[in-house]
Amino acid sequence: MNNQRLPIRPRRNRKSEAIRNLCRETRLSHESLILPFFIHDEETNETIDSMPGCMRWSLPGLLDEIKEAMAVGIQSIVLFPAIKDELKTPDAKECFNENGLVQRAVKTIKDNFPELSVITDVALDPYNSDGHDGLVSEDGIILNDATLDVLCKQATSHAEAGADVIAPSDMMDGRVGAIRNSLDSASFESVSIMSYSAKFASAYYGPFRGALNSAPKSGDKKTYQMDPANVKEAIREVMLDIDEGADMVMVKPAGPYLDVISTLKDCVEIPIAAYQVSGEYLMIESACSAGWLDRRSVIMESLIGIHRAGASAILTYYAKEAASWLTQ
Ligand code: PBG
Repeated sequence: MNNQRLPIRPRRNRKSEAIRNLCRETRLSHESLILPFFIHDEETNETIDSMPGCMRWSLPGLLDEIKEAMAVGIQSIVLFPAIKDELKTPDAKECFNENGLVQRAVKTIKDNFPELSVITDVALDPYNSDGHDGLVSEDGIILNDATLDVLCKQATSHAEAGADVIAPSDMMDGRVGAIRNSLDSASFESVSIMSYSAKFASAYYGPFRGALNSAPKSGDKKTYQMDPANVKEAIREVMLDIDEGADMVMVKPAGPYLDVISTLKDCVEIPIAAYQVSGEYLMIESACSAGWLDRRSVIMESLIGIHRAGASAILTYYAKEAASWLTQ
């Protein structure tokens, strides 16, 4: 075989580690990773049956774990509270209790680690006895405009506690504008909004609802979360959130929606985050614990894929581990 007949050989750019490093198009960094934490109002940490490998942290346990995560390069976290059943009500009013679990956690974290960026989830599902992200009417309708008032109070209480970024995950119409307005009226104009703009009605959230005991008591979330078949609608949601004042937008889940991330990257000027959700985590964990896949390689490939698609920030249960691999 005459080599002259093949002047173009893409393999030359892969011939050594050093050359591959020069030719790499995107680079995943620990700086892109956001670590989610489940917290509860108990004295001890607890394992989570529906999410092996993840914990429900007590407040002291949370502080220790944050310290470890920061030591390997984590700079941002997001909090999800498991609320006691007796505090769940149809009006979800515990969500804006200034001494509530999230509010206390944010204060303690910011007292101890002022440089850490703390993101809080805004939605009613952990607090609502109906398990929905919005208020539910007697005939089972998820009420949009009545929910906005509660979300605004929740967001403002998080800002008062010291949250850096408010992340509304409820998918009610108009919530970004309403929250922006409430934050600004309370002089929290520098608190950011990372909107879960394109949040799909996904079966991949199942394990997370087990972690918080927050599954809807009846019905599903399809009247507010998006149809998995849609991408134009994702653009519409994102454009509305930008108009309403979102600083960053999110696509969720991440892995099955890389085309959505990639489409948005081409038409949106603000940063895009993506959430590798509980079901994506468990697919990797279960395959690896069965010995079917190589865990570290698959975790990194899944995160690189999300980053390459166009997400500048990635929420992942692997954030601490991946950061330690990226910084070691
Ligand atoms: C609730 C919320 C959910 C997740 C983040 N915020 C679940 C849901 O919408 O039912 C899912 C995250 C995951 O699955 O890891 N507002």
